[in-house]
Amino acid sequence: MKTFLAYFIPILLAYAVGAIGAYVQGDALVEWYPGLVKSPATPPAILFPIAWSVLYLLMGISAGTMLSKGDVSVLRLWLLQLLLNFLWSVMFFALRSPFLGLICILALDVAVMAYIIYTAGRRPAAAWLFVPYMLWLIFATYLNGYIYINNHNTKVAVAKSVANPKFSMVPLPYSKDALAPIMSERTLYYHYDKHYKSYIDNTNRLVVGTPFDGMTLEEVVLKSDGILFNNAAQTLNHQIYFEGLTPVRKVIPKELEHLIIRDFGSVEEFNRAFTSASVGLFGSGWVWLAENGDGRLLVVPTKDADNPMCHNLNPLMCIDVWEHAYYLDYQNRRADFVKGYMDLIDWDKVVMRLKYQ
Ligand SMILES: [Fe+2]
Repeated sequence: MKTFLAYFIPILLAYAVGAIGAYVQGDALVEWYPGLVKSPATPPAILFPIAWSVLYLLMGISAGTMLSKGDVSVLRLWLLQLLLNFLWSVMFFALRSPFLGLICILALDVAVMAYIIYTAGRRPAAAWLFVPYMLWLIFATYLNGYIYINNHNTKVAVAKSVANPKFSMVPLPYSKDALAPIMSERTLYYHYDKHYKSYIDNTNRLVVGTPFDGMTLEEVVLKSDGILFNNAAQTLNHQIYFEGLTPVRKVIPKELEHLIIRDFGSVEEFNRAFTSASVGLFGSGWVWLAENGDGRLLVVPTKDADNPMCHNLNPLMCIDVWEHAYYLDYQNRRADFVKGYMDLIDWDKVVMRLKYQ
């Protein structure tokens, strides 16, 4: 019984701290974190809960290995690293401070290293069980450090509101339940009311008192970089995306069909090219139907917040392949989401956006 408790309690404790930490991260993960400039090495969001679950398990077993033999000398060090782990969540996500987060995670690195050195001399198995955690922490320290260095205006982005917001949300041209079952009301609520709103709120906060204040959204996208570019471009991308959807299944207008056949060979060929680019895009981003200066149509994948406008192309329509666009309805089945999206395209809006014909 004693042995069982020696393992069970630390594992339970690690998961409890992890669960409370995840709760603290809640809104920031939706509203603040996506708009940050992050390292290109940042793994897909789904990897984080998987990695942490495994690490918490190993962390608990490591403590259990010590405690089951009656060795409690390391308990304080183990609890200290758990506390620092939780504090990191509070500083980084709840207070939205990459700087304080960095301090916490550096302290956590030291505590975990001390734990490994201490246990290695007593029970090597307990030390080895912490090695994956140490490696993950070194990587997490790099990710946190990258965010700290590349997001100087983060404090501005945390401010709750600005007096006269420059940009307003475009209204959805349909009700939030109108695109179900392809796109559920819940997905549209989070996508429109949380993600899109967060990008536009951040853009409004970041332009205050800067030369970007008097510009149109398109001008801000073309002239900014860093965190302002990420938020302004994501605002624009989402506007094109939401305005380009319709609950009424539409046929491709003849003039557009003619252009598609001219540039892709057939409508089926275009569908194949667009679908395969959307399913195949690695990580987060968008896939566009765009028009170049000669009026030719192209399928253009872009990473993260990038927009074809930044490459002298005119965006006509887009699919959002960030996980937040489909995960509630389709989990990891992006191909099913893309298939559904093809039935929601408002082809009349695509025609309206043509510029060079
Ligand atoms: Fe999105």
